[in-house]
Amino acid sequence: MAINIQKLSQWKQQGHPIVVLTAWDYAIAQLLDEAGVDLILVGDSLAMVSLGYKTTLPLTMSEMLHHAQAVGRGVKNALVVCDLPFLTYQQSIAQAIESAGLLLKQANVQGVKVEGGYPEMVETVRRLVQVGIPVMGHVGLTPQSVHQLGYRQQGKDEKDGDRILQQAIALEQAGAFAIVLEHIPATLAAEITQKLTIPTIGIGAGSGCDGQVLVTADLLGLSERQPPFAKSYANLRQIITQAVQDYSQEVRNREFPTD
Ligand code: KIV
Ligand code: NA
Repeated sequence: MAINIQKLSQWKQQGHPIVVLTAWDYAIAQLLDEAGVDLILVGDSLAMVSLGYKTTLPLTMSEMLHHAQAVGRGVKNALVVCDLPFLTYQQSIAQAIESAGLLLKQANVQGVKVEGGYPEMVETVRRLVQVGIPVMGHVGLTPQSVHQLGYRQQGKDEKDGDRILQQAIALEQAGAFAIVLEHIPATLAAEITQKLTIPTIGIGAGSGCDGQVLVTADLLGLSERQPPFAKSYANLRQIITQAVQDYSQEVRNREFPTD
């Protein structure tokens, strides 16, 4: 049975952890789906891990759509959620509906993720949900605000922690079906998780969240650099380099192909 947002909400009630990873193309998406990942996020981190941009900011709607379509073709079971790129949803509610609509209509995507929990973004989430588009929130460290926040941990003092908690509550009330908590103290993430009825998905937010997400390039050891809270479960950079060197050597020695 394919995963849907109702199932994720049930899993929160049952204390069943939610497994989330990012994907940026068909091959990765298919592997994650077949391995049983619950939710596949077409994160705008693809700007950095797949397209070579320095931040997520330059990513365009047409680039995102292109990648979301490829991911969608690879997924049968997981719920597919796609980030809205920087400045494709912040200008107006109409712009957000148009961008999200493009992804739902032209790619096999079932929801979108937007960054921020300030009042205008909460209103945008409310309208997207009203028109039938499932929305995932994202608070704490929001990488589209890198020029203001850097990649520093957020919510360290009580005032900032309370601000993030209030944003999470407002996003839930606006109808978000889940919320990413990025790079905030574990105690704050656990408190938010306990106060919300929608699932929290943590990244650099401790073990008290309802689910966890990693950038798949970090998990695979494919990233040039990765945040301190990421964990690599493989070293694909090393494996790929070795394979390419082995092939090169065999070609140069006329060992490949064989007769
Ligand atoms: O773009 C991304 O990969 C993300 C996740 C890390 C949550 O937003
Ligand atoms: Na993102």
